Amino acid sequence: MNEKENTRLEKIVSLCKRRSFVFQSSEIYGGLAGVYDFGPRGVELLNNIKRAWWQANVYDKENYYGLDSGMFKHPKVWEASGHTKGFSDPLAECRECNTRIRVDKELVKIGIAADEKMSEEEINKLFEENRGKITCPKCGKKNFTAVRAFNLLIKSNLGDFTSQQNEPVYLPGEACQGIYLNFKNIVDTLQPKVPFGIAQIGKAFRNEISPRNFLFRTREMEQADTQYFVRPNENKNAYEQIKQDRWNWYLSIGIQEKNLKWHQHDNLVFYAKDAWDIEYNFPSLGFDELEGVHDRTDYDLTQHMQFSGEDLRYVDQETGEKYIPWILETSVGLGRLFLAVIADAYYEDDLGGETRVVLKLAPSLAPVKACVSPLLKNKPDLVAKARGVYQGLKKEIPQIAWDDNGNIGKRYRRQDEIGTPFCITIDFDTLGEKPELKDTVTLRHRDTGEQERLPLSELVAYIKSKI
Ligand code: GAP
Repeated sequence: MNEKENTRLEKIVSLCKRRSFVFQSSEIYGGLAGVYDFGPRGVELLNNIKRAWWQANVYDKENYYGLDSGMFKHPKVWEASGHTKGFSDPLAECRECNTRIRVDKELVKIGIAADEKMSEEEINKLFEENRGKITCPKCGKKNFTAVRAFNLLIKSNLGDFTSQQNEPVYLPGEACQGIYLNFKNIVDTLQPKVPFGIAQIGKAFRNEISPRNFLFRTREMEQADTQYFVRPNENKNAYEQIKQDRWNWYLSIGIQEKNLKWHQHDNLVFYAKDAWDIEYNFPSLGFDELEGVHDRTDYDLTQHMQFSGEDLRYVDQETGEKYIPWILETSVGLGRLFLAVIADAYYEDDLGGETRVVLKLAPSLAPVKACVSPLLKNKPDLVAKARGVYQGLKKEIPQIAWDDNGNIGKRYRRQDEIGTPFCITIDFDTLGEKPELKDTVTLRHRDTGEQERLPLSELVAYIKSKI
């Protein structure tokens, strides 16, 4: 990846910190790798993304149900799911400086097609063939151990008062297991007809060997998942429809189509029959996985039926037919999506002869919808009028900001950097200096810098129509 793209990622990371979007976890203690905190602007953007996702995947559908399952699960869940055995990344260690590398990623860097879904033998063979070309990112030597599979599940000691960890309770390696565990509950209590879907946003944790690229690969993440239950062998059309819907959703939240592409997996994870990723053109990484769309067949429910001993077959109430539904899954990491949304909206452009940084976020996603300012901070009449406008707007639209610091140009720049679509200025004309302009305000548009005069009475309706 070229230097320009690396710099672009650095600029985005810096903006995220400077403008209160994202902070490194535990920063005052030197940070904790692979974990991030969302600041006041970040949590608003994240919540707006979640709302848009929930709207599309629950409210806009007739046969999808929402869920919020507990993070901790019975230890057997991860055995049944296959994660205690098959959920690993290929790791090798530098014998000189003990740095650990993800072998599949290092192979890809030197142009060899590899991924974490390959078997241990396959990846070991590739590594042995190419070890002479792979250097340690820390010390530059080429003295690595053999590859071993490193399990990504993270153990907790929940309920274990003996410290023996005989049957550890794991943190969730993927959020979707809560959906399979509640399949029977939802069928029994709501009697949905197949096909139907269950949607959930939940946390997942992975002991990633090399967390990297900011929010792209983290150890703690949030996943937004849908699982669509279909009759056996009736997966093909539904799968195509779901793929199309997910693609269109990204366009609907303002992601540019040129930055998206499809990638079909050659090597499938243990549960999948077919798997496609929607890839995003991430800064410094290029195209890489944003969302997985997986055809999981009856793997999950069959496994849980076997391990729990509960009958998880669906009974068709009209025909009496019993079967294990097949599952079509969509799963997107919200941190990755957050990064894609910011990267897609990040521009450095020239406005009125000045270079500025601007986030051209879709107004529905912007953390602040409008910022209200008095033209001058030291004129009590202006400030009082502006405070009244601010408070009135805030009652109708909660995400309204107040800014009376610095000159008006500086305020605009600050709001541009966080993607605020509108800035509203209260000036002497608002107070009636020119009687025909009394109770009108200046409304400035983020993307063009253009300004227009709008009556105060129309402000709420105008902003609501745009967000
Ligand atoms: N339930 C299926 C599942 O978990 P996955 O491909 O491992 O499948 C789904 O993960 C999505 O979760 C990915 O497409 C990605 O957006 C996100 N994701 C996975 N690992 C991640 C990590 N370490 N950091 C951030 N996001 C991650």
